[in-house]
Amino acid sequence: MVATAIEVAEPARETVHAIDDTRHPAVRRVADVLRARSGRPRVFLIDDTENIEQALACGIALDSLYVTGAAIDGGLPAPVGVGPDVPLHVLDETVTRTLFGERRSARVFALAHAPRPPRLRDLAGAAGDVVVLDGVRIVGNIGAITRTACALGAAGVVLLDSGLRTTLDRRLVRASRGLVFATPVVLARRAECIDFIRQERLTVAALSADAAAPLSTIRRVEERLALVLGGERDGVSPDLAAVATRHYAIPMTPRAESLNVSVAAGIALYERGLG
Ligand SMILES: C[S@@+](CC[C@H](N)C(=O)[O-])C[C@H]1O[C@@H](n2cnc3c(N)ncnc32)[C@H](O)[C@@H]1O
Repeated sequence: MVATAIEVAEPARETVHAIDDTRHPAVRRVADVLRARSGRPRVFLIDDTENIEQALACGIALDSLYVTGAAIDGGLPAPVGVGPDVPLHVLDETVTRTLFGERRSARVFALAHAPRPPRLRDLAGAAGDVVVLDGVRIVGNIGAITRTACALGAAGVVLLDSGLRTTLDRRLVRASRGLVFATPVVLARRAECIDFIRQERLTVAALSADAAAPLSTIRRVEERLALVLGGERDGVSPDLAAVATRHYAIPMTPRAESLNVSVAAGIALYERGLG
C-alpha cells in the first residue's frame, strides 16, 4: 500500500495520507453506513461542506470527516466548526469509486452521530403551521419542502407514506440543504397523524388543484393549520381529505393539470405569511 502525503489546508491539521486500501477501517466504516437499511441508524452520512456546517449548527456531533481525492486538487472546502478531535481521512479516487459506485460522491462528507428522531409530540404547541405531506415520495420534493417550511417558519413537517425509513436519509439531507436538522421532520402513519391533529385541535386545510376556494383566502385563517399536500401521483388521500374542513386551490390556467408539490407548498407557506 502506497500512501500519498497531502497537505490539507483548513482546518489546520498535520499532513494526512490518502487512504488507497478499501480494507482500511475508516473505509469499511463508510461502506457499512452506506449499506445500512435501518430506520434507526446510529451513524449516518452527510455530504458537502454546507450541510455539514448546518448539522454542526444544529448540535449534531460528527464522528469523522472525509475528503475525497478530487477535493485535493482544488483545495479543501473545509467545513467551519469541525473540532480538532474529529478524525480527518483523505480517500484516494479508487477507494472513493469503490465505495460509492454509481452513487454521487461528495468532495467532502462526514459521518455523524444520529440525533433522536423527531416525534409528533415535538410539534405539540409549537408556533406555526404543520405541513403534512400525504404520500409525497420524491425525496427531492420532500427536501425542498422541508427547506421552505423551515425558512418560512412552519412548526415542522409530517411525512405520511413517504417510503423513507429515516429522515437522516442521505438524499433528504442534501435536498433540504441540511435544514432537515433545523426543523422537526416526522415519519408517521396516517392514523396517528389524524389523532395528533385532533389532540392539537388543528384545522386541516387540504390543497388540491380542483378545490373551490382560491388559496389567497387562506391568509384570513387565524388558527394553526395542518396544511396537507398530496402525493405526486394520487394527490391527497381519502383519509386526510375526510378530516379536512378547508380546501384550497392555487388558480392555474387550464393548460396545466397541477403544480409540482414543492412549488404548491412554497406558495401556500408564503400565503400563510410565515416569513
Ligand atoms: C402533482 S400534485 C398531484 C396531482 C394528482 N394527479 C392529483 O390528483 O391531485 C401534488 C400535490 O400538489 C398540490 N397541488 C398541485 N397543484 C396545485 C394547485 N393548483 N392548487 C393547490 N394544490 C396543488 C396538491 O396538494 C397535490 O396533491
